[in-house]
Amino acid sequence: MTRVLDVKGLTGGYGSVQILYGIDMHIDEGEFVTIIGPNGCGKSTFIKAIFGIADYYEGQVSYRERRISGMRTDQLVNLGIAYVPQVNNVFPSLSVEENLQMGGNSLSGNILSQRIERALDMFPDLRSREHDLAASLSGGERQMLAISRALISDPNFLLLDEPTAALSPLYQQQIIERIDALREQGITVLIVEQNARLSLARSDRGYIMSNGKVVHTGDAKDILSDPEIGKYFLGTHDD
Ligand SMILES: Nc1ncnc2c1ncn2[C@@H]1O[C@H](COP(=O)(O)OP(=O)(O)OP(=O)(O)O)[C@@H](O)[C@H]1O
Ligand SMILES: [Mg+2]
Repeated sequence: MTRVLDVKGLTGGYGSVQILYGIDMHIDEGEFVTIIGPNGCGKSTFIKAIFGIADYYEGQVSYRERRISGMRTDQLVNLGIAYVPQVNNVFPSLSVEENLQMGGNSLSGNILSQRIERALDMFPDLRSREHDLAASLSGGERQMLAISRALISDPNFLLLDEPTAALSPLYQQQIIERIDALREQGITVLIVEQNARLSLARSDRGYIMSNGKVVHTGDAKDILSDPEIGKYFLGTHDD
């Protein structure tokens, strides 16, 4: 099995403000892995450090056995990595179509159109909105657009930061289902999710972070059924 991402002893943060204290994490080809943890524990910072946006201090990050620590974002995109940020992930003043085009700046017109068609096939709700401004989309449609845009570069590893935040339960379900379906295209998925139960139910494995560290990892189903973890990290049951 190919190891897609291998992180060892990653420390990082923002300038002199250290947030990550030695993270170990790996993801194998085709896996769907969820990171959960309380607000402010460093989940977004971790994803950003991998993608070259937050500062990385020490440790090793390898992508398909190649060291990527400290690489620029455009180099990472060329290697097949895509990232959907937690906030500000679409350009509101551009149309849906223009947002999608921005996802493939360097592609030839023909390939770009094919990729946009493929993304719209994955998220058909966007098709009828193609010429509308992104600002006019609902929260769920906006997340769909952000994910679609990330797919234009034809990634094989997708980093998603809270794609269901602030969405209705129906949309949360839809988005997670669509993300899960990306696995059929051979895309490996690392997702940070506030709705831990929903995402873990589709995941192979999970990681729990707290205070800039990984405090637990295991099979998603074991995490879901662990009463202690449920109490502290998964929120209350609906019952
Ligand atoms: N640009 C920044 N500069 C300095 N500190 C930051 C910056 N962004 C985030 N932080 C701090 O880093 C810490 C971790 O934030 P991060 O966004 O990684 O948490 P998170 O686990 O993603 O939280 P949430 O669940 O709320 O999204 C927080 O204390 C936050 O205030
Ligand atoms: Mg976050």
